[in-house]
Amino acid sequence: MTDRKPLYKGKSKTVYDMGETDTVLVEFRNDATAFNGARHALLEEKGRVNCAFDAFIMANLAKNGIKTHWLKRLSPTEIVVRRLDMLKIECIVRNRAAGSICKRLGLERGRVFSPPLFEFFLKDDALGDPLITEDHILLLKLATQEEIAKMKALTYKVNDVLKPLFAEAGFDLVDFKLEFGYYQGELLLGDEFTLDGCRLWDQKTGEIYDKDRFRQELGDVIKFYKRAAERLGIDI
Ligand code: TMP
Ligand code: ASP
Repeated sequence: MTDRKPLYKGKSKTVYDMGETDTVLVEFRNDATAFNGARHALLEEKGRVNCAFDAFIMANLAKNGIKTHWLKRLSPTEIVVRRLDMLKIECIVRNRAAGSICKRLGLERGRVFSPPLFEFFLKDDALGDPLITEDHILLLKLATQEEIAKMKALTYKVNDVLKPLFAEAGFDLVDFKLEFGYYQGELLLGDEFTLDGCRLWDQKTGEIYDKDRFRQELGDVIKFYKRAAERLGIDI
């Protein structure tokens, strides 16, 4: 590809301007980070595996009526997406307790949330992505009441689609993070859905198949990412 200008370099993806007003190119890199970038490593094949995983999930969401930024795969590690005006908010749904909620509220790891629990986080590395309430969102003018309701409804809908999809492959979808943005006046799902941004446990053994393998230094990160992909029928 010629004529591409990096617009934004995230921790694991780079967004390029291709000279089109409505679309951008996203490259999935091999970088893995945790603890707000404090831990970093290059994991061979991660970009390709994540790109394939994301494509599979985005296609499934589209099939179920959830509009996303995803348009097409350009290469094993690159996609073309709609250019969204992103909201600085992370939407998280938890089906079971893990990670920060256990620390914050002293909950037992694995506790089932029924109904699933929703949380907003502020997308701000300098502040360490703090948990925020709807009132904080309104105060900071990050989104309107209507947008808050839309993001929550869409995130729950994604959970309703993906939980059974993962269950069919013998996985528990423990939690996940989504980000939304505007495209021509419409709120669409952006960013990515990969094992970097969700927790996935084997239903029988409880074995961890997500980025907690990296965060907790369990090893074999990409081996487990590829196993998860294989069980879901994803061609990498
Ligand atoms: P947490 O337990 O650290 O709050 O994370 C909940 C889920 O959201 C977990 O699957 C990881 C994901 N997540 C991200 O992908 N990026 C983030 O910056 C944060 C805070 C969480
Ligand atoms: N995505 C954040 C980081 O890379 C937090 C995490 O996933 O642990 O530091």
